[in-house]
Amino acid sequence: MKKDILILGIETSCDETAAAVVKNGREVLSNIIYSQIELHKVYGGVVPEIASRKHIEKINQVTSRALEAAGVTLNDMDAVAVTYGPGLVGALLVGVAFAKSLSFATGIPLVGVHHIEGHISANYIEHKELEPPFMSLVVSGGHTHLVNVAGYGKYEILGRTRDDAAGEAFDKVARALGLGYPGGPEIDRAAREGDPYAIEFPRARVSGSEYDFSFSGLKSAVLNYLNSAEMKGEEIRVPDVAASFQKAVTDVLTEHSIRALGQRGEKRLALAGGVASNSALRASMKEACDKEGIALYCPSPVYCTDNAAMIAVCGYYEYMNGVRSPLTLNAVPGLKLGERNG
Ligand code: KG4
Ligand code: ZN
Repeated sequence: MKKDILILGIETSCDETAAAVVKNGREVLSNIIYSQIELHKVYGGVVPEIASRKHIEKINQVTSRALEAAGVTLNDMDAVAVTYGPGLVGALLVGVAFAKSLSFATGIPLVGVHHIEGHISANYIEHKELEPPFMSLVVSGGHTHLVNVAGYGKYEILGRTRDDAAGEAFDKVARALGLGYPGGPEIDRAAREGDPYAIEFPRARVSGSEYDFSFSGLKSAVLNYLNSAEMKGEEIRVPDVAASFQKAVTDVLTEHSIRALGQRGEKRLALAGGVASNSALRASMKEACDKEGIALYCPSPVYCTDNAAMIAVCGYYEYMNGVRSPLTLNAVPGLKLGERNG
């Protein structure tokens, strides 16, 4: 009988301290997330120093809980998979140093994982039939990428943002509207009461690359709208602004993805990253994909935002591909997708 492969995943690239145990790349045995959101809320965004310090404080406990909840011990693991980039350098370093010490102490192989590849891999957890090739739209707080997933560990970037990431635009607009942090879920909520056609915000086109995105113009348009309304003493309807902004973002994300799928004859699209839990984006993608006969995959919200199960899943496929990281593995804050830097 084939032996089960167990991977311990560790994720500390931003403000979630997370550890998970995954069996055979697809079955989540445990998924523990300590979210620091409450700590950073008062500052309106993630404070890197605070994030690193909290990771140090929590990583041991979170990992022990992940092993315990899975009913396994560290020695049962076949590999320790850890996010080594991209992300906040101090935050990444905590996970990397911790994973390296576990590997050094036990002799269990270390596998460095790319955070965005982890987000894409989150789709494998609940969609057992999904295997490459497929296309993926990664929309997170730091990244907006349209990616062709050619194989496990094989990624080709088709389009990317030229400026702000989609999640960043959500967070900045939410802040301008006086909504809390993180802004994405707040805008999602506020927009439910609003009219997405109330205000005409721009849908940016980027010259040169038909699949690239740009969200800074849209963000400025929202800020200008708010300033001008304030100066004229006009009433600002937050739900309408939220819904109209959200529609502008989701229109562009949907349109680019559908065009890329059509031009490449691809019939499967997997959403990934924190913004993939946005209800308007999911609805707009679903409608467009249904019309075009494209199968749409989305992880549950808990696997859209940062977690370690997705890192363990990605780590499993890296491990099966023969990837082993040396104990000199370092955090690489600007790690590019598809780049191996371990
Ligand atoms: O993937 P993630 O947890 O972290 C990064 O790798 O960046 O994504 C966090 C981002 C934040 O910008 C947050 O505002 C956004 O995802 N987000 C959402 C929603 N939930 C989280 N954006 C729009 N709608 C949501 N429901
Ligand atoms: Zn992320």
